[in-house]
Amino acid sequence: MSPAGVASPGAAGVVISLRGLTKRYADLTAVDGISFEVRRGEIFGILGPNGAGKTTTLEMIEGLSRPDDGEVIVDDLPVWPDPTRVKARIGVQLQATALFDFLRLHEIIRLFGSCYGVRRSTADIDALLDRVGLLEKRGSFAAQLSGGQAQRLSIALALVNDPVVTFLDEPTTGLDPRARRALWDVIRAINEAGTTVVLTTHYMEEAERLCERVAVMDHGHVMALDTPRALVHGLGADAHITFTLSAPVPVSDLCELDGVSTCAAHEAEGYSLVADDAQRAVVSLLGLAAQRELEVKNLDVQGANLEDVFLQMTGRKLAEEEEEDEGGEKVEKPRRRAFLFGRGGR
Ligand SMILES: Nc1ncnc2c1ncn2[C@@H]1O[C@H](COP(=O)(O)OP(=O)(O)OP(=O)(O)O)[C@@H](O)[C@H]1O
Ligand SMILES: [Mg+2]
Repeated sequence: MSPAGVASPGAAGVVISLRGLTKRYADLTAVDGISFEVRRGEIFGILGPNGAGKTTTLEMIEGLSRPDDGEVIVDDLPVWPDPTRVKARIGVQLQATALFDFLRLHEIIRLFGSCYGVRRSTADIDALLDRVGLLEKRGSFAAQLSGGQAQRLSIALALVNDPVVTFLDEPTTGLDPRARRALWDVIRAINEAGTTVVLTTHYMEEAERLCERVAVMDHGHVMALDTPRALVHGLGADAHITFTLSAPVPVSDLCELDGVSTCAAHEAEGYSLVADDAQRAVVSLLGLAAQRELEVKNLDVQGANLEDVFLQMTGRKLAEEEEEDEGGEKVEKPRRRAFLFGRGGR
């Protein structure tokens, strides 16, 4: 892992410190001895595909799931064995939020506040709803909120105890691009007001635009940790090239092309290459296609990004879990949601 992940012990700017944190479920090691620090005041992202271990990591930091090994310190307090004191200092938005469908928004906030022993005045509650852009919905029932509004409410609930650090588990999954961008603004504003934010995502763009530093996670390991810019720079890559071919070719043939550093095959004769020299890579790709009488279609060349960092480290695409609908738009697989209360089935 990059040295950017670990500060010196006891460093004043560190708000969360993980050492060798491990969680096993029977034969599966969901989180495998990870170590890193989160700095006070930053927006820190954990980026990884489904099953990478992001939620399990958060749950151990939040005091919701006991680690099998390792230690985690939040705001100078060890979380385990007794997570009670830490819980007062953190805000948690779970990946699957249980909302009280038939309470009004201001009632839900008051209720959550009372769970933390925080008595909130009406003005306080309205200020909190305003921070997440829901003031005009204060009298609505949770069941009447759109997906994006429900996410905003769950973020408001993660702020109800004025936490030092707030954890957001995939805050924008399932939202359309406009709602996602609007939520980024809310998260930035929360951070600018002084709260450290730790979020998980499998959106490369979200990590790149929103996070100061990103831990790239896969199969329970932190593969890399740095600023998005440094991660991409460290790749030594120039561009990301995607295309389809009229007939399949062995992926090893593509890896040998001039200017190409990494390559992967996807469904329906789709391929992606990371190129250290985009021009040479495209020329050699077209040469190979001409030689084998193949047609290159949907050729797209883009500057290297975090997706390429992931591709180079794992040989897989981050977004492989997403499917395309008939119109060619990316669509999400349905999310698992849990409802502890209310009628459920949103
Ligand atoms: N309670 C559990 N019992 C058994 N296995 C579990 C449990 N919770 C998680 N796992 C497994 O641990 C691994 C990591 O899961 P985790 O939920 O942390 O992934 P994630 O990175 O948050 O994925 P996603 O993007 O889908 O939310 C997965 O293989 C998952 O099936
Ligand atoms: Mg998760």
